[in-house]
Amino acid sequence: MLCKCAIMFGRTHDRLFSTFPTHSSCRCVAPFPTGNHNPGPRNVNLNNETLRLWVVRWSGIAWLAIALGTVVAASAQSRLAIGPYVQNVGKRNATICWATVSGEVTVSSSELTNAPFREYQMHTVPLRGLKPATTYTYTVTGDAGEDGRCTFTTVPEGEHAFTFAVISDTQNRGNAAHRPLIEQIRAIQPDLLFNVGDLVADGRNLGDWEEFFRVEGELLRNVPLYAVLGNHDRAATLYFQFFVLPGNERYYSFNRGTTHFVVLDSPGPYPPEDNQAITPAARAWFQEQREQYWREQIQWLQDDLAGHPDAKYIFVFLHHPLYSVKRERVKASRALCDRFGGLFQAHAVTAVFSGHDHHYHHAVAGGVHFVGGGAAGGKARPIDDHHPETVKSASVESFMRVEVGLNEAKVWVTDVAGNTVDEFVLMPRQEAAPTSP
Ligand SMILES: [Fe+2]
Ligand SMILES: [Fe+2]
Repeated sequence: MLCKCAIMFGRTHDRLFSTFPTHSSCRCVAPFPTGNHNPGPRNVNLNNETLRLWVVRWSGIAWLAIALGTVVAASAQSRLAIGPYVQNVGKRNATICWATVSGEVTVSSSELTNAPFREYQMHTVPLRGLKPATTYTYTVTGDAGEDGRCTFTTVPEGEHAFTFAVISDTQNRGNAAHRPLIEQIRAIQPDLLFNVGDLVADGRNLGDWEEFFRVEGELLRNVPLYAVLGNHDRAATLYFQFFVLPGNERYYSFNRGTTHFVVLDSPGPYPPEDNQAITPAARAWFQEQREQYWREQIQWLQDDLAGHPDAKYIFVFLHHPLYSVKRERVKASRALCDRFGGLFQAHAVTAVFSGHDHHYHHAVAGGVHFVGGGAAGGKARPIDDHHPETVKSASVESFMRVEVGLNEAKVWVTDVAGNTVDEFVLMPRQEAAPTSP
């Protein structure tokens, strides 16, 4: 009998992906190793440069070597399927990720003809001991794209100008906006990229992630993506296997120069799968766990913001907007505003970037800019409400470019055709308008 989970990992028959739910107890669902497979640190001394490597190793990895400015990794027994891509780039660290095909079964029936279904393994290699402000080239053998050469640049010490891009709702399902927007971001080559959630239509479906990486793969070779959980991502295991993020990876923060970045988890925990029988007692227990999760996240946010009083800019990213101009979502956005809005204003957050509504909306409240990014794959939705705080709105598919300078940060919003939808300036926190809690 054909295992349902094997079908989940098929490549070519998308209609089958949605037919079968993820089945976490089956061995076939664990092509990505879980738990700690870390064999420990290696010290490789080349050209008087010592780099400490933590190598996550599975059967497919044959050897790994590193030299100053160059990293080469190879997989002799399996072929590249996703990546390579770079994650979590700091002053002295970065992580290289890729997935290989570790097994394949060909299935035929009266409806299918030699359909391949594949099992993947994830490879994650954290690099340590790098130099700040240095461009490194890395290569994974068997990588035919971009001549097999990728680069990343470590973060400089101290204050410096840099650029980041923001996209949202890249959930594919045949929408054509995703690729042209990504091509525009490739032309910019920002230092980092944020996706404010709904990266894929269903985070439990590997076919959706394959499509995501088909579109973004060339960009992510060189630009680290910081992912934000959206409701469509479902906090799925695959999400956490593909991305290496700071902290607990659900809500986290990090610094670059004098800028502080904060990522939140606005969907929060999901209940058990819908098709499982849930008793009232189990439902009540889950609800309590969910409330506890929110309490912990808000406490964490409070401590985190209070711990960075001198940040020149604070940028927050979360999937759901605090100000929605989509009528059916206004009530939910107000509830989120009650949860977070006072904290953002009290700590003079510079800007809050969100997604979910699939259109562009810029509001200013208490000195904080709330910027809802237009969809970058999910279809743009109409705008049917407004707020006194609204500065500009447009039902467009778009992305944002933010150039963080020493004296100001400038934001450009650009649509699929390359037209400027909006542009505005963000001032450093010390010079921003006074806030009210
Ligand atoms: Fe969405
Ligand atoms: Fe969403």
